[in-house]
Parts: sequence; C-alpha cells; structure tokens
Amino acid sequence: MENDLAVQKSLYSKVNGIEKRDDDFYKELYARSEKRIDSLAKTNPFTEEELDEVLLEDGYDRRDFMKWVSATTAMLMLPGFFEPLVAKTVQVLNRVPVIWINLQDCAGNSEAFLRTDGPTVDELILDIITLEFHELLMAPSGEQAELQLENAMTTFKDEYLLFVEGSIPTAANGIYGTIGTSGETYVDHLVRLSADAKAIVAVGTCATFGGVPAAAPNPTGARGVMDIVQNKPIVNIPACPANPANMLGVILLYVMTGELPDLDGLLRPKFAFGYRIHDACERRVHFDAGEYVEEWGDAAAQAGHCLYKMGCKGPMTFNNCPTVKYNRGTSWPVAAGHGCIGCSEPGFFDKFDRFEAPTPFNPNYNPASDMGVYGAAAGLGLFTAFKQLTKDSVAQEEENGN
Ligand code: SF4
Ligand code: F3S
Repeated sequence: MENDLAVQKSLYSKVNGIEKRDDDFYKELYARSEKRIDSLAKTNPFTEEELDEVLLEDGYDRRDFMKWVSATTAMLMLPGFFEPLVAKTVQVLNRVPVIWINLQDCAGNSEAFLRTDGPTVDELILDIITLEFHELLMAPSGEQAELQLENAMTTFKDEYLLFVEGSIPTAANGIYGTIGTSGETYVDHLVRLSADAKAIVAVGTCATFGGVPAAAPNPTGARGVMDIVQNKPIVNIPACPANPANMLGVILLYVMTGELPDLDGLLRPKFAFGYRIHDACERRVHFDAGEYVEEWGDAAAQAGHCLYKMGCKGPMTFNNCPTVKYNRGTSWPVAAGHGCIGCSEPGFFDKFDRFEAPTPFNPNYNPASDMGVYGAAAGLGLFTAFKQLTKDSVAQEEENGN
C-alpha cells in the first residue's frame, strides 16, 4: 500500500458526470412537465387511492408531505421551483402502471421498497403507485397469479414500467430458474415481459450486473438484465439493496417528464450515481487529515475517523448513500462504522472480495478516466429521453474509459 500522502493524492480528485444546466433548460422542462401532469390528471387513475386520504390515514399532514417533496426535489437535482410540480406528480402516480418481477434474488430490494421513505412510506408507494403485479405483495398465487400477470400485460400493453429484481440464470439453457406451471425460464419470462413494457428498471446489483449470484464460479451463469434484453430503454439502479429513494426517484421523474433520467455509461441515473461515495462522506475530513482507523475498535474508530485502511471502497464506488442514506435517512454503512463494500459497483461481489483490507489501487489512477465509464458517456444532459445504450455501446465506453 502506498503511503498516506500518495493515497490522498490519488483519490482526492472529485469526479462526477453531472452537467450544469442553465435556467432556460429548467424552465422549458418545467413547462413541458406541467403540461404532461395536467394531462395525466385528466385521465382515469388505475387505482382509487388518493394521496390526501392516504396521508390522513397515517396521521401525516401536508407539512410533512412538503418536507418530503423538498428533500426529493433536491435529491433529483432539480431546482427548488420544481417542488410544486413534484408534489403534483405524486398525485398522479396512480396513472402509470408498474409490473414488478422477482427472478434469482433474495427479495431484499422489495423489502427495501416496502420501507420506502415518503409521506406515508409504504402507503404512498404501494397505494398510490399502480403496482399491478408483484409476487410478494399480491394475494393471488399459482395460476391465479399467472392470470393476473397476463391481464396486467394485456391491459397495460406498451404502457407499464417493468421493474426487475434478481439476476437471470443463463447456464444450461436457463434451467436454473423457471417460473409458473409451464416452467418458463427466467430468460424467456424476462424477454416476454420486456417486449410489451414501456421501459425496464433493473433494481439491485443482481438485476443490474449479476450481483451475488454471478460471483465466481457463477454456476448458474447469472447475468444482469441489460445482458439479456435488447432494444428497450433500461435504467439500472444497483446496490444491495437498491436505495428505495432512487427507485421512487426514477418513477417520479418518469411520471413527471415522460422521460427516463439521464444515464451514465452503465445505465445508472446520474442523479444517484454521478458522485463517488468518498466525495460526500462525513468521514472525508479525516481522510484529508490522514486520520485513519487502523484496527476495529481503536481510538480512531471510536472518534469516527476514515475507514480507508479498514477496506472502505468509497473512493471507488459511485452512489448517493452518504446523502440519501437508508432506513428513512437515518444511517448508511460508513456511518454505522464499517467501510463501504462497493455493493453497487459492477463486478461486486468478486471485484472487492477483500472487504476489510485496503484495495490496492494504481498510483496513476486518474479519476477523470472514470468519466468514460461512469460519467458523461451517455451524452450528458439531465434527461436522455428513452436513450437506449446497448450492451455493445456500454462495452465500448468501458474500453474507452480504460
Ligand atoms: Fe472515503 Fe471511506 Fe474514508 Fe469515507 S470512510 S472518507 S468513503 S475512504
Ligand atoms: Fe453499498 Fe457502499 Fe452504499 S456498501 S449501500 S454502495 S455505502
């Protein structure tokens, strides 16, 4: 490991893929989005649940809701004057149907989603969003569940957002993962459901990059959604689990603007993955001061010093965990006392398998080179309307970035 000075020099530079936009851009976006929201408001909702009723039921008032709106607008990197529009958007979330499927996974993202922070948390998401199909949450099972899925696909053909949780086993003709009475493989299931979807949102590192099931020796040939589905808009929201605030953010932006958020070269929304963990970490001041935890429980650990020497992968990981946090914004891994293990990065689990040892890095590492992989590769701009980066273009960007 290089000395502390070299460590700091190599990791200090800030990286992001966020392009600054001028006022005219946001004004135009606001006008366009407002028109869309007004038009959606005139259509019939797919569910009867109304936000105000849901809020009241759980004892939340309008002030609580507006606080949430304010935080969410900031998280989405929109100017403050968008807040009323974000609030209006929540009112029409029940106009966009969502189908959620679980493939090779532990359902951790569903668990996280159920605890989504918001004005009424679960209720806002589950009752306002039109969740047409979710195996874990719905009452029907077996053939009835299959029927519900077919109905949802037919009714909302070309309209629904398809959320995919879990990796896709491809070895042995996909036999490691089948679903339903017909024994349809996960590969075929995903391809079939994708065909009629408006866009696909891959949630969690398993669905995005293969995740834990794809760890060596990857006996099931686990892959991410973008390795299987072609010619459809895909948004990747990695992490283990994906942060529910980011899932909701993607839905909100889509409902509000009719577009998917601007994506980086790995199809991740820039509002969430445009910055490194390290650049927003509350322990960064200790990193800069050369104050490191050297042993679990030492005085530096008790004083909240930097965890780099204990294996923290924050300098190599792009995610908004330090600002958005988990569990209603109360904490995140580094705040809890353990370094980031890079759970949202491609190649996780194997890439960072020595979680509690400092990751050796190239002293010539240039964060700017990451721009090709993580940053501005998708063409910049806050929104890239239904931009589809194919597997080949992602691979090309990675090649360029390296
Ligand atoms: Fe960076 Fe990790 Fe140290 Fe935070 S704890 S400053 S992310 S190395
Ligand atoms: Fe994962 Fe690191 Fe965030 S471990 S949850 S990306 S802090």
